[in-house]
Amino acid sequence: MLIRKPTDLTAADITPKQVYLNRRRFLEAMGIVGATAVAGSRVLELAAPSEAAVAATKFNALLKSPFSTTEKENSYEEVTHYNNFYEFGTDKTDPAKNAQKFDTSNWMVSVEGEVAKCGKFSMDEILKIAPLEERIYRHRCVEAWSIVVPWIGFSFSHLINLVEPTPKAKFVAFQSYYDHRQMPQGKWAGIEFPYVEGLRLDEAMNPLTLLCVGMYGESLPNQDGAPVRLVIPWKYGFKSIKSLVKIKFQSKMPATTWNLAASNEYGFYSNVNPNVDHPRWRQNKERRLGELFRRNTLMFNGYGDQVSSLYSGMDLKKYY
Ligand code: MTE
Repeated sequence: MLIRKPTDLTAADITPKQVYLNRRRFLEAMGIVGATAVAGSRVLELAAPSEAAVAATKFNALLKSPFSTTEKENSYEEVTHYNNFYEFGTDKTDPAKNAQKFDTSNWMVSVEGEVAKCGKFSMDEILKIAPLEERIYRHRCVEAWSIVVPWIGFSFSHLINLVEPTPKAKFVAFQSYYDHRQMPQGKWAGIEFPYVEGLRLDEAMNPLTLLCVGMYGESLPNQDGAPVRLVIPWKYGFKSIKSLVKIKFQSKMPATTWNLAASNEYGFYSNVNPNVDHPRWRQNKERRLGELFRRNTLMFNGYGDQVSSLYSGMDLKKYY
């Protein structure tokens, strides 16, 4: 199938958002765009590429998750203006400025490797895999700051079950989108792109591992990893890869960006662990964004009840 790139489109191809939404609602009412007519909706989305990059979709009727914390949420402003997304620059304020025009329309996520059903998923298809939940998670960055965010998504295990991993699948490798024309700041980031990450299959299957498509009731802002990312709340933030385009099931442990950059500082597991310091700073305290005083960091970021059994018998000083 020929898919026109956003750069091939002219102003005449761009449908105003309201017209596009009305047309979509009409087609939905006619039963033309629905669970099985994803190709049709994909064509419709092609009609508004530049707006898709800026307009947020509101998600209604979100399920409440039993995994949510009752801690006070950070503000939307805080969570969208203090980011790590090195493709758009290394300063925490860079992604909010530099990712504004990031074009995430016509997004496809490829699922490959050791699965019975490999293929490419559009965002429409991803949104239909499982009901969306609001999950309020603590999110702890390796740099010792933390945030509490009402993410939106569903357990990544739903996607895994859909694609049916073969017995050879022991790990899942993830890859972010990278395009140096859209992400020119990446040239000075000092790490290799595309950004890559990985999980053991049982970690990926853990219900806490969230395939995330939104936050604060809306689709993800570009700087927070639009249109789809992972959030793995018991691991340091860098495991939570943004703007996912490839998911590969494999027998070997995948390479990960920060381990490739500095293997003595960043391991594959990267579980939040106050007892194992980073070689250059301690990990037993963290500062919640917006707060003055530091608080104690909890083992597995406080999610030990759900995940500690994944690591029983493992020396977590060795497997950092
Ligand atoms: N994903 C990509 N593609 N590029 C990145 O630079 N940074 C990671 C992670 N995912 C990063 C990424 C790091 S270091 C952190 S702490 C979290 O994203 C930050 O997520 P947030 O900006 O939504 O808080």
